[in-house]
Amino acid sequence: RYARTLPTVPRLVPFATGVDGEGPFEKFQVRAQTFNTRILGGGLLTPQIGYNGLAPGPTIEIERGTRVELTVRNHLPATHPTFGHPMDIATHLHGSASLPQFDGYAADLTVPGFMKTYHYPDHQTARTIWYHDHAQHVTAENVYSGLNAHYHIHDEEERALLPQGEFDVALTVDDAQFAADGRLMFDHREDSGVWGDVILMNGAPWPVMRVEPRIYRFRLLNTCVSRSFRFRLSNGMPVTFVATDGGLMPRSRQALSWRHSPAERYEFLIDFRGFAGRRIELLNSSNDNNRDFDFTDKVMAFDVLPVPPTTTRPDGSPDPTWNTIPGDLSTGNAVMALDPADAVRERRFRVKRDDATNVWELGELSWFDIVDSGYQRVMADPGLGDTEIWEFEGGDGWFHPIHIHLVDFKVLTRNGVPVFDYEQGPKDTVYVGENETVRLLMNFGPHRGRYMVHCHNLSHEDHAMMTQYSVGLQPG
Ligand code: C2O
Ligand code: CU
Repeated sequence: RYARTLPTVPRLVPFATGVDGEGPFEKFQVRAQTFNTRILGGGLLTPQIGYNGLAPGPTIEIERGTRVELTVRNHLPATHPTFGHPMDIATHLHGSASLPQFDGYAADLTVPGFMKTYHYPDHQTARTIWYHDHAQHVTAENVYSGLNAHYHIHDEEERALLPQGEFDVALTVDDAQFAADGRLMFDHREDSGVWGDVILMNGAPWPVMRVEPRIYRFRLLNTCVSRSFRFRLSNGMPVTFVATDGGLMPRSRQALSWRHSPAERYEFLIDFRGFAGRRIELLNSSNDNNRDFDFTDKVMAFDVLPVPPTTTRPDGSPDPTWNTIPGDLSTGNAVMALDPADAVRERRFRVKRDDATNVWELGELSWFDIVDSGYQRVMADPGLGDTEIWEFEGGDGWFHPIHIHLVDFKVLTRNGVPVFDYEQGPKDTVYVGENETVRLLMNFGPHRGRYMVHCHNLSHEDHAMMTQYSVGLQPG
């Protein structure tokens, strides 16, 4: 552990940029393909699948208001090299308000040899979102094998407040299990989840990152199939949260530890000033309903270099973010200004396993019900522009990260009390712990159509814990 250097994930370069009648655009292309990595050392090869032969895939960086066309070419073989299932894929940009036909609907599959071009509006405020596979019933295997990548929307507000460039670090945490020959194992005997004994950060096991004694910004995405973390720093120092799934929080918040489920993104600052020459570890203590192994309590390390910190931007101008922790951040995301009194309707959904059929359900529906209805049935049908409160009531025996496509929401309460400080920002995925009930406030739009809602424990999702809702499609 702490032998490998943290890999820097490359940025995806557009093959075309320009301006047309609707404004600026950039066009990108990725190939979903197989490749071998040397994650384990000792000459062992691990077959993976990923965008452009990378896991995690290349990061897309885009300015707010620049439309993106992303062409995903399926260069995969007919079946998965290790797990054997058909390699039909669907690409979802998680956290984007995309039109339904570009949202990576789980049944909208691109088969090997074909491609699909997705259009992303990027009109949303700055945020860390991610693109990943969403093929029905095999999302877990595909994301676990490497089909996931960051996508960052930038805007002026965020650029002025927070570290940029090499001090703005994308992190993807994952866990994996390996067979003796180096292949990934997907031990799915219990349909509650899959937990690995190896912790990967940006694809490397327990890496170390060398940092300057200054403030850094981290964008941490959890792509695990099932594992949630409770992160903390080894020296007991707090981190300062600045953004959640849907971008900047109204105000920064400090926390000594936080729980972080699959698909959630947290952006936080770590202040390395005063620690030159020291090593600080990012550690994990287990949450309920996870499986621990000998070294899953360790994640990565930061070695703080005994060098003078960089205090200027690449163009030579002063960079105040090297020693500034902002307090007030943003009023830009409209969901944070919503009031529960604005809600025209309230809906309640139980989150549980159907004991008779052993199928995970959301609001009494599973993906099997959606498929049986010819993809017509919905769990809710808000009107375009409606504000609603949705309550998710978790049962005992499991935790569920619930993700709603299309919208950002504000988490009002958990078990009737205000949510954790670090959740006080726009969200699209919420941690519903065992016996927890959360209340969410959101406004439905800007598009009409059917959008998925599901548990982001990918084993649950693939075992049918996925439904859909519609916006603006009610009859009459
Ligand atoms: Cu991260 Cu429905 O997806
Ligand atoms: Cu679940």
